Amino acid sequence: MNLITTNLASIHEKNEFCCGKELLDNYIHRQASQDVKRKLSACFVLIESGSNIIKGYYTLSNNSIPLALIPENIKKRLPKSYKSIPSTLLGRLAIDKNYQAKGVGKILLVDALKRSYLISKSMGSFAIIVDPIDNEAEWFDAKYGFIKLPDSGKMFFPMKTVKQLFEK
Ligand SMILES: CC(C)(COP(=O)(O)OP(=O)(O)OC[C@H]1O[C@@H](n2cnc3c(N)ncnc32)[C@H](O)[C@@H]1OP(=O)(O)O)[C@@H](O)C(=O)NCCC(=O)NCCS
Repeated sequence: MNLITTNLASIHEKNEFCCGKELLDNYIHRQASQDVKRKLSACFVLIESGSNIIKGYYTLSNNSIPLALIPENIKKRLPKSYKSIPSTLLGRLAIDKNYQAKGVGKILLVDALKRSYLISKSMGSFAIIVDPIDNEAEWFDAKYGFIKLPDSGKMFFPMKTVKQLFEK
C-alpha cells in the first residue's frame, strides 16, 4: 500500500466515505469543501497513490487556548501577559469503516502530528488540541498521549513533545 495524504479536492469520492459516526460523515459529505473554500480549515485525505477513494481524513485550523485552562505545571513556564496561547486544532479525524482496525488511524494521526509540527516552525503553536466527540474518540486520543485540559472536554498534546517524536 502506498498511502499518501493530500488536500481534499473535487476528484476525491467524499460522498462514499463512511466511518459510522454521522457527524464526521456529514462533515466530509457536506461541509468540508465549504470550510476549505472559506479558509476556516484545511482538510487532508488519506488515499492510495493514484486512487480517489478516501480512506480517512482530518482537519487542521488555527486555534487558541485560554491561559486559564492550561494545567498549573505547564502554565508556570508561560508568560503571564499571554491571556491565550496559540495552538493548532485537529478538529476531526476519521477512518472509513472498510479500513478501520488496520493501523490506518495511527498512520493518519502521526501524519496530522507531523504536519502540525512542521507548520509550527513557521507559525507559533504551543500545542495540538482535540475536542473528542465521544468516549471512543477520547480513548483513541488518550492512547496516543493527549492530555485532558481541566474543566473542558478538550485534550492537548504539547508541541514540544511532538517535536521529540520527529527530531532526535
Ligand atoms: C477511532 C479511529 C480513528 C481509529 O482508527 P483505526 O484505523 O480504526 O485505528 P488503528 O487500526 O490505527 O488502531 C490504533 C490502535 O487502536 C487500537 N484499536 C483500534 N480500534 C479499536 C477498538 N475498536 N477497540 C480496541 N482497540 C482498538 C488498535 O489495536 C491500535 O492499537 P496499537 O497501536 O496498540 O496497535 C477510527 O476507528 C474511526 O474513524 N472511528 C470513527 C470516528 C471517530 O471516532 N473519530 C474520532 C477519533 S479522534
